[in-house]
Amino acid sequence: MTTVTVRVPAKVNLQLAVGPPRADGFHGLVNVFHAVSLYDEVTVTTDLGAEPHAQRRPLVTLSVAGDSAEHAARVPLDGSNLAARAAHLVARRSGASHPVRIHLDKAIPVAGGMAGGSADAAAALVACDALWGAGLGRAALMELGAELGSDVCFPLLGATAVGTGRGERLDPLDCRGRFHWVFALADGGLPTGSVFAEYDRIRPDAPDPALDPALVRALAEGDARALGAALGNDLEPAALSLRPGLRHTLDAGRGAGALGAIVSGSGPTCAFLAADEGAAEKIAAVVAASGACARTVRAHGEVPGAAIVAGH
Ligand code: C5P
Repeated sequence: MTTVTVRVPAKVNLQLAVGPPRADGFHGLVNVFHAVSLYDEVTVTTDLGAEPHAQRRPLVTLSVAGDSAEHAARVPLDGSNLAARAAHLVARRSGASHPVRIHLDKAIPVAGGMAGGSADAAAALVACDALWGAGLGRAALMELGAELGSDVCFPLLGATAVGTGRGERLDPLDCRGRFHWVFALADGGLPTGSVFAEYDRIRPDAPDPALDPALVRALAEGDARALGAALGNDLEPAALSLRPGLRHTLDAGRGAGALGAIVSGSGPTCAFLAADEGAAEKIAAVVAASGACARTVRAHGEVPGAAIVAGH
């Protein structure tokens, strides 16, 4: 194969319970991930031009395009990019050395609290494994994912799962039916580390995190109303403290009939659960018209994780 394209979903956190900081600086989490139909596509291509000079070419060259030029322009294209780091990890583990080009086609908001960078890294793991014929398999890719970041393993799995530890230990959760979501995308991102630091400042007495049984029941029964009532994000007050304007966004969605309204992950994207597709359309239109966000997108969940969609 000379080129492999992997499609990978965004996530929304249905419950994000955050404990006190651990000795390593990370926080113990109970993190219910739910994969939604908002996708990035990651294409990894053998860098044929590199053949004669393979030693002098970088192992990974990155490019990016996306729905929004403003968003795409904020993706780092150097070695700090998680997708590039993913490729380096697969090369190190498998001994592969032929240079590749990685192209990120982004629909997931950048630094938006929907794990777009982690999704790209997960997709790059799958694509590089296939392109280099490394044959690492799911378990090894999960291990590499956990090394890359707390949110990288989930997009490999997709669907709905609860993450514990720092979020990387995953157990699938039963999820029936289809849930309809509206996402309000903000201009600019919120760095995850800053939101956790603000959380520590305003919540010095954080209890140990625990999974909400009402949320688990709502998912298993496919009960959108109960799920809307059970949505919860401990990081929301910290995100609102750093971006007070998000209150208006959440209020606009609630006013338009959302069953639940939360900041997604560390923000600044806001997520609204709708009763059905028609309700989602209305919420998206009202929130967009309120001027309380840059734009809205609709998606449904759950959806499967990273998958190869083209290769030759
Ligand atoms: O693991 P990841 O690189 O995605 O985490 C980004 C930042 O989020 C970390 O540097 C840390 O500040 C914060 N974080 C945390 N506890 C977690 C996950 C992330 O404090 N469980």
